[in-house]
Amino acid sequence: MTLVMIVFAYLLGSISSAVLVCTLRGLPDPRYNGSNNPGATNVLRLGGKLAALCVLLFDVAKGTIPVWIAWYLGIEPISLAFVGIAACLGHIYPIFFHFKGGKGVATALGALAPISDWMGLLIIATWLIIVLITQYASLGAILTSMIAPVYTYFIKPQYTISVALLCLLIIWRHHENLKRLWSGQEPKISERLNKAK
Ligand code: G3P
Repeated sequence: MTLVMIVFAYLLGSISSAVLVCTLRGLPDPRYNGSNNPGATNVLRLGGKLAALCVLLFDVAKGTIPVWIAWYLGIEPISLAFVGIAACLGHIYPIFFHFKGGKGVATALGALAPISDWMGLLIIATWLIIVLITQYASLGAILTSMIAPVYTYFIKPQYTISVALLCLLIIWRHHENLKRLWSGQEPKISERLNKAK
């Protein structure tokens, strides 16, 4: 059953909501426009707030649904972690979209939230505070990924290593953003919102 859930999570994660929403709304393909990232932030740039919100909710659900189902089925904690990681790997390397996926932030949030209400709230609050202060969505994701394993250690220590692995993957997926941040070329989220419809 655990293997079935891991495969299900990967396949669900592989549904690129950003590409689907942009295709349905006649918007540019987010894989080849803006930051070339099929995620909510880039859809905000390319298509506006409503399209970005749809992508965000769908991507969060891709992480939450398989973890919830696996939990309901009584799968043990360590395997639940693999189910969450599989959903994120599906989002990052989607089998249905030539393995060209996003950065996994929203799907990771969805997968981590069922660990405890506090985890989800702390992660969202941390991201929001960093983005409000710095105006960089990517920096919010990177710094939140650095602190999330610490939260996990204090809230649900048995998940610390799995969460740390997931966060390392997310930080690594932001290497282009890190280069742009370093060179001062990363667009601020306010610039994105102003450009969005
Ligand atoms: O969640 C993705 C965000 O951290 C960065 O998005 O489009 O600027 O690469 P983007």
